Amino acid sequence: MGLAWCAAMPRVVPFYAIKCNPNPGVVRLLAALGAGFDCASLGEVQQVLDLGVSPSRIIFAHPCKRPCDIRYAREHGVGLTTFDTESELVKIANFFPGFKCVLRIRADDPEARVPLGLKYGANPEEAPKLLATAQRLGLDVVGVSFHVGSACKNLAAYSSAIEKAREIFDLGNSLGFSMQLLDIGGGFTGHFDSCGNVMFGDIATTINGALAAHFPPESGVQVIAEPGRYFAETAATLLTPVYGVRDRPDGSGGIKKDYWITDGLYGSFNCILYDGQNPEYLVLRSPELPAIVGSAPVFTSTIWGPTCDSADCVYKDVQLPLLRNSDFLCFPNAGAYTVAGACDFNGIAMTSPRLFYVFSDSAVDALVEGVEAGAKEE
Ligand SMILES: Cc1ncc(COP(=O)(O)O)c(C=O)c1O
Repeated sequence: MGLAWCAAMPRVVPFYAIKCNPNPGVVRLLAALGAGFDCASLGEVQQVLDLGVSPSRIIFAHPCKRPCDIRYAREHGVGLTTFDTESELVKIANFFPGFKCVLRIRADDPEARVPLGLKYGANPEEAPKLLATAQRLGLDVVGVSFHVGSACKNLAAYSSAIEKAREIFDLGNSLGFSMQLLDIGGGFTGHFDSCGNVMFGDIATTINGALAAHFPPESGVQVIAEPGRYFAETAATLLTPVYGVRDRPDGSGGIKKDYWITDGLYGSFNCILYDGQNPEYLVLRSPELPAIVGSAPVFTSTIWGPTCDSADCVYKDVQLPLLRNSDFLCFPNAGAYTVAGACDFNGIAMTSPRLFYVFSDSAVDALVEGVEAGAKEE
């Protein structure tokens, strides 16, 4: 994935959005491969710094930070952050006037699955006032960022955002700021096509074209992105055993099935509520049970999560082949905004599922080299 990114958009350095999946294996591998990190809280900064990553490889990409976040960044040498309000500028001036500031503008893809613009991003018309305030407070504005919305659908959102960013760069430069950083946010898919290629080509072509038009290499502007889903989504497969079964009449002479699985809306399937996902599933038969001969009968089935909350329903009335206790439902592409948002409601440890790592040889090489390089630095 990392190589595919670099080949497709060689000018854009990925700063992995750790919120998407802070799993240590994912973060450690990306650190070893040389990625930067988008951190949005002091806890995320701490996790990345604890791996030995230099603070210069972090952007504190939260436009509304708590005072404790800002103080932590100052004390730990994280020098770059985003803002989109005057109130944030005042906070930065109070707690860390040396913070280099990146103006986040609103640049929505209206069809993105998770739009972000209602909450974050200054309207471009607000930029002149914000830049003037930053200047009055003696702060250093060094660039522009945007996020078109997670799981973006319209590539044109990137090109029009890059064009808007150019206008704000020009305005900032004319006010005396030295605008050097363009941050094109996230929104990228990490899926593969049937030939195993990352489905990335059109996005990359659009972004490369807009960069060439508005931020050509000779402009000297550094370009970064904050991909989360792109790296994490396909990196994990979730397996949930069935541990409860119930038959009830379906009202027309047949039966319908209820099944309980070990993860639910309070766990990884919070992605259904917060990330608008509709997770695809496969049936995996338990090796401990007798094989099913021929094709299993199909029933209208409801899949319940493990908590006592009746709202904890993963799928209602879907068609599924007969399942038995100990069979599994398998959810591929379960790495983005899943376990990251889980909680342990009902005392069920959904934030710490059992993990099995599978690394390719090249990933292992990168990790070993990363460890050796770290050891040499110490
Ligand atoms: C500021 C910021 N950057 C990056 C991301 C990652 O976005 P994605 O997973 O779509 O790449 C998010 C997601 O919410 C975000 O809020």
